Amino acid sequence: QSMLSWQRTAYHFQPKNSWMNDPNGPLFYKGWYHLFYQYNPDSAVWGLIRWGHAMSKDLIHWHHLPMAMVPDQWYDINGVWTGSATILPDDTLIMLYTGSTNESVQVQNLAYPAEPDDPFLTNWLKYPGNPVLVPPPGVGFKDFRDPTTAWQSSDGSWKITIGSKLNTTGISLVYKTKDFKTYDLMDGLLHAVPGTGMWECVDFYPVTVEDKGLGMSVKYVLKASLDDDKNDYYALGTYDPVSDSWTPDDPVLDVGIGLRYDYGKYYASKTFYDQNKERRILWGWISESDSEVADVQKGWASLQGIPRTVSFDNKTRTNILQWPVEEVESLRSNRKTFNNVTIKAGSIVPLDIGSATQLDITAEFEIDIAALGETNIEDDVEYKCSSSGGASGRGAMGPFGLLVLADGSLSEYTPVYFYLAKDSYGNIKTFFCADQSMSSTANDVGKFVNGSTVPVLAGEKFSMRILVDHSIVESFAQGGRTCITSRVYPTKAIYEKAKLYVFNNATEASVTASVTTWQMTSSAVIRSSSMLCVV
Ligand code: FRU
Repeated sequence: QSMLSWQRTAYHFQPKNSWMNDPNGPLFYKGWYHLFYQYNPDSAVWGLIRWGHAMSKDLIHWHHLPMAMVPDQWYDINGVWTGSATILPDDTLIMLYTGSTNESVQVQNLAYPAEPDDPFLTNWLKYPGNPVLVPPPGVGFKDFRDPTTAWQSSDGSWKITIGSKLNTTGISLVYKTKDFKTYDLMDGLLHAVPGTGMWECVDFYPVTVEDKGLGMSVKYVLKASLDDDKNDYYALGTYDPVSDSWTPDDPVLDVGIGLRYDYGKYYASKTFYDQNKERRILWGWISESDSEVADVQKGWASLQGIPRTVSFDNKTRTNILQWPVEEVESLRSNRKTFNNVTIKAGSIVPLDIGSATQLDITAEFEIDIAALGETNIEDDVEYKCSSSGGASGRGAMGPFGLLVLADGSLSEYTPVYFYLAKDSYGNIKTFFCADQSMSSTANDVGKFVNGSTVPVLAGEKFSMRILVDHSIVESFAQGGRTCITSRVYPTKAIYEKAKLYVFNNATEASVTASVTTWQMTSSAVIRSSSMLCVV
């Protein structure tokens, strides 16, 4: 066992060993969820990429399966890269993926299950006519990758979109096909945003909108993974199926300049529609923020986040909501509740819950703003999670929240918190942040403070949910309006030494907290590549 073995997670998806990146072709088929992923079995760093493969009944307990596809053709010999699944109305399964060719050109390839009746989807056939798409004129050979799931037009044909760039403008090309073998490039672009650079892993999907008194309508989410800053940006907008173009609701919140799925580590994500439970599910790659040397030493790198349901926020109407799939709650045990704990300004209160390395936490906070009086609330118009002193930067109304993965002497802790500040109009704005600066005594790990604003509507309490799993902390504010994923590498706050505290580092406001915690059972991933484990 490596000396870093405590960093391994207990209920997040990871391969047995080695390097993983993007989730690929997630789907539900014949009673099973499948996850494919970018996998380099040779080492704990990115390299010659194959498609790893696992399946699950509940998105939480996984059976590892043999690799689905490996580089073995001229058109993918330098890597079987990211792709997406499409399930046709007759249940035919289509996989489109990017191949890096013998000359490192990015092309799109078609694959399908060799035995469609096999619920394990063990064997894959690559279409003999591959590649089905090569970079069109004007597009760089290395700027053409990660085809989406296809959507159907009213005439029965199918469309896909593929991210690219033109100079520094991020773009998404649209292709039309009837048989997934031959394609027409559409004249316009789905969308383009100047200055956002190469768009990787574009995702495009509808969300249901409740129109008060008018029933339902749809908006479309467009997501791009920006190669230049390695974050996933999305925007809500309208899709015109005639021109195949998408328009953002608010140009200020356009793709790549507005909202992010997650303000911590979260990249190359992909959704799929789960026809089993009629919901949209989001997978995202969580990379490491330790050193490559440490990754090689521990023999693995990267996780997948707990899959999240995605829905339109019918209350704010400006953002989506992301929430861990309900199945993760099957791991909960040993519930502890702390009701209406008063935390005075400048204090820390331990919550006696036993071991705190594998937790699901929900917390609600109330703050009596009226009692503060106008004069005590300083203007904080410049406040930013990343640059305003983290959890030790004090204001009249924050920060307050939880310290997770803390040791008893508070030499290591990771604060997840709210901070209230006034904007230039005098309105109160709420920030949701996670501070890694004290998360580890190691000095070769990232120690960022991450976060953003979160809408809090009249009458709402400040609420957060946190999933803690050894070296990952996934934090959700106000039902999933703002999310932050942190990789942390405690050296002291490990196993039974890890503790949980509630804190209020405001200078003025007293806070009332109600916290519920559950221990999370390991998901006992079946780490076998044998078929026997599932029969
Ligand atoms: C995103 C990405 C994709 C590519 C794959 C290669 O992380 O760079 O654009 O297909 O990873 O592993």
